[in-house]
Amino acid sequence: MGPIGVFDSGYGGLTVLRELLKAMPGYDFLYLGDNARTPYGTRSFNVVYEYSLQAVKYLIERNCPLVIIACNTASAKALKNIQVLHLPHIGPDRRVLGVIRPSVEKAAEITRNGQVGVLATVGTVVSESYPMELQKWSGGRIISTVQEACPMWVPIVENNEIGSAGAEYFIRKNIDNILRKDSDLDTLILGCTHYPLLIDVIKKYLPPHITILEQGRIVAEKLVGYLQKHPELEQRISRKGATLFHTTEYPEVFESKAALFMGQKIKAENVHL
Ligand code: DGL
Repeated sequence: MGPIGVFDSGYGGLTVLRELLKAMPGYDFLYLGDNARTPYGTRSFNVVYEYSLQAVKYLIERNCPLVIIACNTASAKALKNIQVLHLPHIGPDRRVLGVIRPSVEKAAEITRNGQVGVLATVGTVVSESYPMELQKWSGGRIISTVQEACPMWVPIVENNEIGSAGAEYFIRKNIDNILRKDSDLDTLILGCTHYPLLIDVIKKYLPPHITILEQGRIVAEKLVGYLQKHPELEQRISRKGATLFHTTEYPEVFESKAALFMGQKIKAENVHL
């Protein structure tokens, strides 16, 4: 028995954890933020892979029967290799899931014209994970995918510049860019943990008929369904209603910013991977 591990490069995964806590009250969670080495979005494939593997091993050693990689960049660059190459050795009875597949399945469910856009970090965009997964899991419903990297959006959130003129400038610029790539898209995936915090500004510049997909809720909804289909895994998740926060940074640093993402104050513990 153990908690659900939720891993992110830093704070962003808290937007996913927040929704998991709402959808799955009573379950135990262990959040791990690799804040000392964030951001992952600008790092190379090998570095993200190495760091993510260390994080998954850490959570497996702490008895997590299930680990959610809440970071899109890590899901894009490391998840497949971890599942195929490492899990059979480090935790054959554990599961590691990411955030791309549930988002892609949801996009396929709701698009009307099969034209989907993805906003994400440079690393996620370059990996081409979203276009590939959209083709693979949409049952032929996705006709085209356009992507736009938004390298300024994570720093905007992390520096609490959400309402500033600078934030408006960059958000408008990236939205205009993706609409130039496909003016008919009807579904837009926010493929980065931080972007839900920018939703009000995004909505300002996006035509209202485009459906915006926020991952936290989708991941939570899909995970509830997944655990119903896998009772043998669900029964191994402890349920004392406890949530712990581990960070590779100093806890005070983590705690001061985490409130922005969680909507509440939390207590964190410093750990080494
Ligand atoms: N968590 C990352 C993601 O979802 C964003 C922050 C980072 O670049 O590390 O892609």
